Amino acid sequence: MEEIIITDKFKKLKNELDKISISLIICDKNTYKYCFPLLFSSSKKIPVYVINGGEKSKSIKVLTDIYKIFILNNISRNSIIINLGGGVVTDIGGFAASTFKRGLNYINIPTTLIGMTDAAIGGKTGINFNNLKNYIGTFCMPQKTIIYTDFLETLPEKQLKSGFAEMIKHGIIYDKNYFLELANLKTNLQNDLSENKFYKHIKSSVNIKSEIVKVDFKEENFRKILNFGHTVGHAIESYLIKRNIPHGYCVAAGMICESYISLKKGLLEENTYYLIEKTILKFFNPLKFEVEQINDIAKLTLKDKKNENLEINCVLLSDFEKPVLSEQISIDNIIESLKYYTSLCR
Ligand SMILES: NC(=O)c1ccc[n+]([C@@H]2O[C@H](COP(=O)([O-])OP(=O)(O)OC[C@H]3O[C@@H](n4cnc5c(N)ncnc54)[C@H](O)[C@@H]3O)[C@@H](O)[C@H]2O)c1
Ligand SMILES: [Zn+2]
Repeated sequence: MEEIIITDKFKKLKNELDKISISLIICDKNTYKYCFPLLFSSSKKIPVYVINGGEKSKSIKVLTDIYKIFILNNISRNSIIINLGGGVVTDIGGFAASTFKRGLNYINIPTTLIGMTDAAIGGKTGINFNNLKNYIGTFCMPQKTIIYTDFLETLPEKQLKSGFAEMIKHGIIYDKNYFLELANLKTNLQNDLSENKFYKHIKSSVNIKSEIVKVDFKEENFRKILNFGHTVGHAIESYLIKRNIPHGYCVAAGMICESYISLKKGLLEENTYYLIEKTILKFFNPLKFEVEQINDIAKLTLKDKKNENLEINCVLLSDFEKPVLSEQISIDNIIESLKYYTSLCR
């Protein structure tokens, strides 16, 4: 398992960085503007490669640009790459590092809430292909993940919420008390952030994700529970790709749909379902799409990379902390859940 350091003390972060002989840093435009200057003075000449922000950068084109930069900077098997950014930077930077010259060491310094609680932990790397999310990737642990929670101060509220959805997911699948703590937070997450309530919650999520990954690194079985909300969530995200909706918002929608399917299949009790629905809707307004678009969204779940033998595999729930793995569901189940979900808009 990678070493994970979590701190809100700048000095500790600096000490950690001083221990590393950095070969190249990958940032996106925002993390270069907001996070990079906190860490490195302009006098220190460390090569930096800055990619455009956003999901579109998780592409073959950007990947080849990164490989070219590696070559230009004489990156060798002994080099250490730092990924300073959100899930996009850690996913593509990790993928580039894990494949270049059959694998380099890399260190993640996540700067978004999704990055800190999810994407930068556990060694899943990847890029999108043909509009399909994370279709190409590797399992390759970072040497270390350094989480400095104060980076969240410049993160827009929308992005904070996006990460919050993954934290709610951790509570649902693994720790009901944690879910209830999150459910009781005020809807203005920025306030909770400034009162430093997030530090504790980030730690809880990091522990949950690490415990799950420790049991099943290559996602052969147990780790699949982290995909709760993601079968429908990824389909919505792929379908609405032009609207640039943050990942977590789609996962929030996906968690409602997949809980609804669990309810309709008689796995989940009504009270539990409504508590999950109410909590998600407290923080996330339903995403708007037309009823006519539902079939197209549902069809995308057939392409989900988690499927086996052309069946749709989806994580359902029988209760809090009781995800049901690899439950096969039909496209009609998905359509029905999406129809219900759109009715929540009205
Ligand atoms: N590998 C995994 O296990 C895993 C898990 C969850 C999500 N993901 C992936 O992560 C991606 C989503 O990650 P994300 O939500 O972090 O998106 P992101 O990396 O696109 O970051 C969101 C936005 O915030 C900006 N930003 C980042 N840090 C900032 C800061 N401190 N201050 C101001 N702006 C900042 C970025 O430039 C970007 O515009 C998706 O591609 C998803 O598939 C991967
Ligand atoms: Zn996710």
